Amino acid sequence: MIVIGSDHGGYELKEVIVKYLKSIGKEVKDCGTFDGASVDYPDIAKEVCAEYKKGGYEFGILICGTGIGISIAANKIEGIRCALLNNEYSAKMTKRHNNSNIIAFGGRVVGPDMAIGMLEAYMSAEFEGGRHQKRIDKVSELEK
Ligand code: RB5
Repeated sequence: MIVIGSDHGGYELKEVIVKYLKSIGKEVKDCGTFDGASVDYPDIAKEVCAEYKKGGYEFGILICGTGIGISIAANKIEGIRCALLNNEYSAKMTKRHNNSNIIAFGGRVVGPDMAIGMLEAYMSAEFEGGRHQKRIDKVSELEK
């Protein structure tokens, strides 16, 4: 199960990603937005992250126009490690090294094929643990 949400700037890309995830057999919890009307990205980040933290989700996806605002908002929330993705290398490495639990895209920055390529790279990668876990633990300390 994957949880996803976007503001109006990410709405079109969200629809593409939801369709793709369903096409590969994933269950998707879509927190909206459900049309192009203006909404505030912190509200979407808050809702998606709260849903993710309930448990049972593989990871979450957030999309706004640039991906910047919504990832900044998500990273204010305890336990969330949100990575704004712009290339497949970063997508793979943020899973391997940061064990990011939320990924973000800019709907006005990346095209649908690019976003799906990054999503596939992230989903195919595995967290490496070890020294990276120690560093994640240090990141968690910064929340206190
Ligand atoms: C909305 O116009 C836009 O500011 C938002 O989608 C996002 O890009 C903010 O970082």
